[in-house]
Amino acid sequence: RLFRIAIDGPAASGKSTTAKLLAKKLGFGYIDSGAMYRAVTLKCLDQGVPITDTQKVQDIAHHAKIRFPSLGTVELDGKDVSTAIRTSRIVQNISPIASNPGVRATLANQQRSLAHANDPAWSGFKHKNTEKIRGVVMDGRDIGTVILPDAELKVFIVAEPHVRAQRRYDELKEKNSLAQGETVEAIAQDLEARDEADRTRKVSPLKKAKDAIELDTSHKTIDEQVSAIEKLVYD
Ligand code: C5P
Repeated sequence: RLFRIAIDGPAASGKSTTAKLLAKKLGFGYIDSGAMYRAVTLKCLDQGVPITDTQKVQDIAHHAKIRFPSLGTVELDGKDVSTAIRTSRIVQNISPIASNPGVRATLANQQRSLAHANDPAWSGFKHKNTEKIRGVVMDGRDIGTVILPDAELKVFIVAEPHVRAQRRYDELKEKNSLAQGETVEAIAQDLEARDEADRTRKVSPLKKAKDAIELDTSHKTIDEQVSAIEKLVYD
């Protein structure tokens, strides 16, 4: 049986970076559920499917082949989209897709199946001298509440809004993915709009699970965040 760690929280709270490093340290698999919603959004935009066309968007999600071939990379229909899904164009179009019940149902099935050691996605998984996957870290908005309600450990990550905006700005800048004229203020507004949409949508809203442990990362380094969760694993 796998040890499953569910990490949820608002946008740019440090979930993905923390989850990825934690998985690496523990020798666990990492599933970035947000990347799956981003990949579906990218496919809709690329194919000219209107994001509000509920049925067409559901079909796109149903046929999208999303894989995580290595820690931190995302593949859509056999193509590496790790960078393409991180632009502001994606997040500006993602909310109607993330609140589409058919899309959520399709991705939820895939996410639950990825939380099992025998999922084909883990074939060839090799880490820390083991041939077998021992656990998974999955991050998102509804992992502890809806996707893996019986996860062995649930963490809800929060951080002050200005800290989150600055972190996202630095991250985009480092990857050369800042849109022309994009400012910290504009990013703060994008984050706020997205969190509001995530918190208030009818299906699987962003919410702290009752039994999740809250971790405020505003004044923590990445290493401190990872160690804090690692400690919970061994407690
Ligand atoms: O985590 P990330 O910022 O990449 O997620 C992008 C968007 O995908 C979120 O704002 C949210 O709308 C959606 N999402 C979701 N449920 C998840 C993960 C992400 O609705 N489990």
